[in-house]
Amino acid sequence: MNFANIYEKVNKCDKCKLCKNRIINCSFRGSTKAYIMFIGEAFGTTEQSEGRPFVGRSGKLLDGILQKVGLNPETDVYITNLVKDRPIDYVTGKDRKPFYDEIITCAPYLMEELEVLNPKIVVTLGKTSGDWFADYKEYKINQYYSERKWLPLYHPSYLFRNRKEISNFIEALKNTLEKINV
Ligand code: URA
Repeated sequence: MNFANIYEKVNKCDKCKLCKNRIINCSFRGSTKAYIMFIGEAFGTTEQSEGRPFVGRSGKLLDGILQKVGLNPETDVYITNLVKDRPIDYVTGKDRKPFYDEIITCAPYLMEELEVLNPKIVVTLGKTSGDWFADYKEYKINQYYSERKWLPLYHPSYLFRNRKEISNFIEALKNTLEKINV
């Protein structure tokens, strides 16, 4: 199994209705040699049209933060989503959170990515991927869980609304990188 196999399956997948929102084949962002995997929720509009995670407004903020802690978003990290297509609310036409059944249907692809990349640290971005990674048990944001090699952080879109949290996000990431010596 390799990343090309995984994304071939992702792009052919029709196991849930979200495949109807697919307008272009998708893939991950970053490097397949990375030590760190970032996991977001699902595509927004920009990602849906470019087929890559975090290339819109949230992605620009994320890239800026990664650069601040000395990580190149294209060469030092692997960025993906829990759900690979874009969940749309058909009443408003806006993005919505993925439903539990959509998460459970899509998660096996992420599990394959985790197995192939075998990262030193997993960073979940936001509640949707954090809750899934925690198996829907409680956890603290910005706290590194060494036994699971996992750092749960806020989603970049939350940081736009809560700018004060940006420094905590950066500090938690920096401290974790120092701990594992990357
Ligand atoms: N939000 C996410 O969680 N993932 C993306 O790819 C874009 C926005």
